[in-house]
Amino acid sequence: MMRLTPFLVAAGVALANPDPPCKGLWKAPGPNDFRGPCPMLNTLANHQFLPHDGRNLTETAIIDAVTSALNFNASLGTILFENALIANPEPNATFFTLDQLNVHNLLEHDSSLSRSDAYWGNGHIFNQTAFDQSRAYWTNDLITADQLANAKVARQIHSKSFNPTYTFTHTMEEFSLGELTALIVGFGDKEAATTNRTFVEYFFQNERLPEELGWHKMSSVVNLEDILRLNEIIRNATSLFTTATPIIGRRDFHSGLLR
Ligand code: HEM
Repeated sequence: MMRLTPFLVAAGVALANPDPPCKGLWKAPGPNDFRGPCPMLNTLANHQFLPHDGRNLTETAIIDAVTSALNFNASLGTILFENALIANPEPNATFFTLDQLNVHNLLEHDSSLSRSDAYWGNGHIFNQTAFDQSRAYWTNDLITADQLANAKVARQIHSKSFNPTYTFTHTMEEFSLGELTALIVGFGDKEAATTNRTFVEYFFQNERLPEELGWHKMSSVVNLEDILRLNEIIRNATSLFTTATPIIGRRDFHSGLLR
């Protein structure tokens, strides 16, 4: 085998182990590397699960990255890729790049958890002020679906109040719910619909998987059914209605008024 290897390589024959040794290792992006508005795609590129330069993101590259880094199933990878392809303006494109995701109001939208609105400047790099507004609603170590929804709604209220170009279509709402679900399937407990605040904050702020904090990828495979179920849980949590006030509470309230 030792003697054959140079011959096989020279003949262009693929060797058995296709993974480069650097896959999974985190390396900061350089000045010529593309990055975009998605903290996870940036993270996967930083870890070299995706091409580190942020270019040539093919279906195979996306599937390979989300299956190996996050334990998604391959069909979920295909769906993510197909939704992303609109970012490449070339007809019949077979790849996209991270900077193609930066186009405002295509996939990138207002009221992100960790990015400013494009109206105020750069809408696709991490923004600490925006992120601090979001994480103010994550009031304990375990972030619940309610707390994710509260951060989303608060960021929308902020944009709607102060950004005269605020745009949030029904399609953007679906993407936005998916982005919150991503934080559960990436860093939390998909059965309980909760996620880990320390992991989530580290991830956003470093664009790095929180391995040094003890994070591991999901032990069970993440599939489309998980995503759709969690999207509905978070959608319901965005409602500002509650069930009726308990009778005792109402009595207290009225007697308080009468006093
Ligand atoms: C092909 C795959 C993917 C594409 C094309 C993609 C694209 C995007 C885009 C365009 C945004 C910006 C939306 C905005 O303006 O806020 C975004 C945000 C986000 N993405 Fe991805 N994404 C992909 C996969 C993932 C995965 C696998 C995860 C995690 C498991 C993830 C997590 C997030 C999160 C948490 C945000 C919200 C960022 C914020 O609100 O600040 N994405 N993604």
